[in-house]
Amino acid sequence: MGVFGASGYVGRELLRLLAGHPHATVAFATAESAAGGDLEGVPLVRAADAPLHRAEAVLSCLPHGVSAPYVRAAREAGRRVVDLSADLRLSDEAVYGLTEFARPQLADAALVANPGCYPTAALLALLPLAHQGLLDASREIIVDAASGVTGAGRSPTRELLFGEVAEDYRAYAAGNSHRHLPELQGMLARVGGFAGDVVFTPHLLPVRRGILETIHVPLTRVVDQSTAEGIFAAAYADEPFVRILPQRLPALRDVVYRNIVALGVAAVARVRRPRLTVVAAIDNLVKGAAGQAVQNMNLMMAFPETAGLPC
Ligand SMILES: NC(=O)c1ccc[n+]([C@@H]2O[C@H](COP(=O)([O-])OP(=O)(O)OC[C@H]3O[C@@H](n4cnc5c(N)ncnc54)[C@H](OP(=O)(O)O)[C@@H]3O)[C@@H](O)[C@H]2O)c1
Repeated sequence: MGVFGASGYVGRELLRLLAGHPHATVAFATAESAAGGDLEGVPLVRAADAPLHRAEAVLSCLPHGVSAPYVRAAREAGRRVVDLSADLRLSDEAVYGLTEFARPQLADAALVANPGCYPTAALLALLPLAHQGLLDASREIIVDAASGVTGAGRSPTRELLFGEVAEDYRAYAAGNSHRHLPELQGMLARVGGFAGDVVFTPHLLPVRRGILETIHVPLTRVVDQSTAEGIFAAAYADEPFVRILPQRLPALRDVVYRNIVALGVAAVARVRRPRLTVVAAIDNLVKGAAGQAVQNMNLMMAFPETAGLPC
């Protein structure tokens, strides 16, 4: 496998996973400022010097805006590609790789756009309800999400300094201005047939990794606790990387360093119109990025889907 952007947070996680993968080895790894060094025993070369001919498949962990030209060069060299950036997620060029809902397309895919971390958790929480016709499109779905600081990447910025982040908690990109909103809304429509609105507010949590999303879902009919849990349990009965927690809401400790999303539900009392709260937890660097990319690559290469993945 070739890894573009291996020196970033996601790229490092990918090298870590590939080092323990029973069927894959790293053919090359790229970096920008860290080029010339090495990671996990793999030398880091500039992206422009990547020996594409050495890799059967390529995974790109480059920043959005930077990734697409390298992805296209890899495709032109005949390599199959998983792009972890946002560049091609809304494009018809790539299969949208939300694995649990994309398996039929993944086996033959030449190019897969790995979903964003926030949309992965929200879509896995909402699609089973959408498929039951339970989402009330006349009211907004409210997604309040919090991410650890690795979600912002390794480039140094003032607002991510320890002194700014530690012991604090704040919202950002409020008012539906986060770039994950079109992805989330677009895929809810495409995969879930849901044409309503979503209000998405991310928060910065002073931990290194992990995302917790509290999703307030307007329902078309009343659903009690056991029925709601039953819908999720049935939808994900055969899924190796989705955990439904009965009678309990997930926390970051359920998911960090693991390629899983953990989901819990709470029927909402004392409201006049039916509503459900769904809580989703995910490691942004694993199921939200590198782990899901390996899961997709496994299916593309006809390896066992769970190969090399901690669950
Ligand atoms: N962080 C997450 O939780 C997360 C989750 C899902 C998806 N993603 C997506 O995954 C990608 C990587 O995210 P990240 O958080 O790992 O970012 P990051 O820590 O900033 O890493 C970016 C990587 O790209 C390299 N790079 C930067 N500018 C470059 C350029 N102009 N030309 C060639 N290489 C360049 C960097 O090299 P140097 O460090 O050596 O300069 C580094 O290896 C992004 O597209 C991001 O949106 C991130």
